[in-house]
Amino acid sequence: MKDLTITSKIVSEHDAYKPYHGLTMPIITGVTYTFDDTDDGREKHLAFGGETGPEKEGYIYSRCASPTVVELEKRIAILEGGEVAVGYASGMGAVCSTVLTFIKCGDHLLTDKAMYSGTFDLMTHKLPDFGVEVEKVDMRDLEAVKAALRPDTAMVYCETITNPTMRVADIEEIAKAAHVKNPKCLVVVDNTFATPLLYHPLDHGADIVIESATKYINGHSDVLAGFAISDAKKAWKLNDCGRKYTTGAVLAPQEAYMVNRGMKTMPVRFAKHCENAMKIAQWMEESGLFKRVYYPGLASHPDHEVAVKELNGGFGGMIAFEPMSFDIAKNMLDNLKLVNLAVSLGDVESLIEHPASMTHSVLNEEELAEAGLTKELVRFSVGIEDADDLIADLKQAVEKAMADCK
Ligand SMILES: Cc1ncc(COP(=O)(O)O)c(C=O)c1O
Repeated sequence: MKDLTITSKIVSEHDAYKPYHGLTMPIITGVTYTFDDTDDGREKHLAFGGETGPEKEGYIYSRCASPTVVELEKRIAILEGGEVAVGYASGMGAVCSTVLTFIKCGDHLLTDKAMYSGTFDLMTHKLPDFGVEVEKVDMRDLEAVKAALRPDTAMVYCETITNPTMRVADIEEIAKAAHVKNPKCLVVVDNTFATPLLYHPLDHGADIVIESATKYINGHSDVLAGFAISDAKKAWKLNDCGRKYTTGAVLAPQEAYMVNRGMKTMPVRFAKHCENAMKIAQWMEESGLFKRVYYPGLASHPDHEVAVKELNGGFGGMIAFEPMSFDIAKNMLDNLKLVNLAVSLGDVESLIEHPASMTHSVLNEEELAEAGLTKELVRFSVGIEDADDLIADLKQAVEKAMADCK
C-alpha cells in the first residue's frame, strides 16, 4: 500500500493503543511514574538541563511528559511536517514558552506590526521590561524586513495570516533573509489561521511553528491547547529542559484526548470553513454593503498573489471586513441572529467580534493604525453552517444597521 496521506494518518494511526487494541486514545491521568530502582530514577533524570534528550526513555512526572499527551504530540508532528511537537496548555502557553526558551536579555527580536493581541502584548508591553529589544516591521515589506535584520537578531516572529487583519507575508523570503543575516536566528511562525492543512512553515525555512489548537485543530471551542513544533533538538529545549517544564503551561491528558478527537475531523471541517468563507467574502464584496472586505482568496486582496503561492489550495475560514461606519458595524453586530457575537475562532459555529474594543483592545491608537486595524473593522470566523443561511443573517443585520444609522 502506498504511504498514507496526512488526513489518513491523523484519523487512523493508533500504534500507541496497540497494547489494548483500542481504536481510541486512552486517557492516562497519572502525574508521577514509579522507577525500577534508584539507578533507574537517576538515569532518567540525567538529561535534565542538557542539550539533548535522555538516553534512557521513560516517564517521570507529567509536567515533563505524559503518555496521552505524547501520543497527540506525535500526530501533531505528522500533521505539521515536523520532527517533534510539544504540547502546551494553550496557544499562549506555546508562544510564551518558545520566547522564554530562546530569547534572553539583550537579544534583538524582530516581529510584525500586526498579530494576535496576546502575542502583541507580550512582545510590545512585557519583553522590553526584561531587556529584550523588540522591533516591529510590516512583514509584507521584504525590504523593510531586510533593513531591520541584524547579525544579532535572535528571533523573527510572525503569523502566516495575521490576526485580525488578514495580511499574508512571504514567509519563505523572510526566513531566507533572516538566515542570511544570522544563520542562528530562529524564525518562528504562528500558523493558527492557515493551519497545517494550508501551509507547512517548516518546509519553507521556519525553525519553529506555533499552533493554537484551541482553534481549528480542535474546532469545537471546548478545549484550550497549543503546540510548538520543530526539530528534535529545539523541541527538547522547549520541553523537558526548557520552559514548558518551568512555566508549567502543560497540556493535560483529558484536553489532549479532546484535541485528538477534534483533529480527526479537521480536514473535513476545514474544507467547509474555506468554502463558506470564500462564498461569503465574494458575496460581501459584490453586495456593495461593505467598505472593505479582507479575505486572501479575493483577487482584490493586496496579498492575494503571495497567498496563492503560499497556501495549499484554500484561503482559510477567517474574514475581516469594514462596514460603512463604526456605528453601522456596532449596530450590525447587535442584529445578528445566527452568527454568535463572541471572541475566539476556528469553531464549527460562526463567531464574530469587534477587535478594536474586544480582542485587540490592549493596542493603543498608534498600534492599531500600524496594524491596519480600523475602528470599524470586524473579524468573522466563518463556521460550517450553511453559507446561504450565514449570508442571509449578515444581510439582514447590515441592512437593518444601515437603516437605523441613517
Ligand atoms: C493567531 C493566534 N495565536 C495564538 C493565540 C492564542 O491561543 P490560545 O487562546 O489557545 O492561548 C490566538 C488566540 O486567539 C491566536 O488567534
